[in-house]
Amino acid sequence: MKAVRFDTYGDIDVLKVVEVDPPVAGPGHVVVRMKAAGINPGEASIRKGLLAERWPTTFPSGEGSDLAGVVDEVGEGVTVFAAGNEVLGWIDERASQAELIEVEAAKLVHRPGGVSWEAAGSLFVAGATAYAAVRAVALQPGETVVVSGAAGAVGSVAGQIARIKGARVVGIAGGAEKCRWIVDELGFDVAIDYKGEDVRRALREHAPEGVDVYFDNVGGEILDAVLTRLARGARIVICGAVSQYNATGPVRGPSNYLALLVYRASMTGMVVFDYAARFGEATAALAGWLGEGRLISREHIVEGGVSAFPDALLKLFSGENMGKLVLSLGVE
Ligand SMILES: NC(=O)c1ccc[n+]([C@@H]2O[C@H](COP(=O)([O-])OP(=O)(O)OC[C@H]3O[C@@H](n4cnc5c(N)ncnc54)[C@H](OP(=O)(O)O)[C@@H]3O)[C@@H](O)[C@H]2O)c1
Repeated sequence: MKAVRFDTYGDIDVLKVVEVDPPVAGPGHVVVRMKAAGINPGEASIRKGLLAERWPTTFPSGEGSDLAGVVDEVGEGVTVFAAGNEVLGWIDERASQAELIEVEAAKLVHRPGGVSWEAAGSLFVAGATAYAAVRAVALQPGETVVVSGAAGAVGSVAGQIARIKGARVVGIAGGAEKCRWIVDELGFDVAIDYKGEDVRRALREHAPEGVDVYFDNVGGEILDAVLTRLARGARIVICGAVSQYNATGPVRGPSNYLALLVYRASMTGMVVFDYAARFGEATAALAGWLGEGRLISREHIVEGGVSAFPDALLKLFSGENMGKLVLSLGVE
């Protein structure tokens, strides 16, 4: 059986496809035959050892990735799943891509009806992150929300949930095509193309009363720009910092942090696994909005199975993906 492994804290050149023995379901675990796997940027930062070395207690084992598949074997003590069940969930290991994966049953839910394999592979970690982030800020209708990485997996869903909750949503993304997509199809009120526009100036124009909530997926310069436009009492959720994950020097921190003082604002980190108890609720809500057509989930699907994983991962850093980057693994 094929799997992708990286040597712990190694560099990209040690990411390789290897032949491994099929896993056996231990107590409380099931083995899942993969159909699709969502790929997350945090997997790459773990590869470089950046997050793991700097913040070992926050990211003990990586960001993980979504999985969608069919239960192949059930371990002792598992009563919720049986062989043949269709499931989705997450894998929190660094070596995340394989044809058969042993997963703790607690990290799985039954696949909601009507959701494609690829969409199921994108709903879990990214969708649950977006869902948890919006809940964490107790969003009020009419508030101005800014989302970075807005055409990506987490950002596109977070922006749409904010819109469903009645907020005015400004998305920041790279390139005209992504900006058109989030406004025309996802219903964001405004898009700012950070590759073609001055973000600070654009925020002055599009958030004249200030930013009430900022969902930060990218960190770096964009976080600094948003800090200059806060409304009083603004809430910033640090969801990720993809602009910094491959930094070989020091990670860039926010130089405009004094805005937090002036605007009585708060900046909070969130990790989706802290909300694991609500994954079922998040998945049901997201599937419901999808079914009603109020939420659009787009997948950027990479074919080629496990062997395509190393190249697929890099797309997250070149910005090639629109929506969730998903590796297709034997979808019929
Ligand atoms: N806190 C949690 O529990 C949790 C869980 C899952 C994910 N995350 C984080 O959420 C964020 C988004 O993850 P995702 O899976 O949804 O990835 P994604 O947004 O689908 O893909 C990454 C996107 O980041 C953008 N990007 C890459 N380099 C950039 C740069 N230097 N500056 C600005 N934007 C850049 C690219 O879009 P453009 O073309 O727009 O540049 C790229 O498409 C990541 O930071 C990830 O680590 C956090």
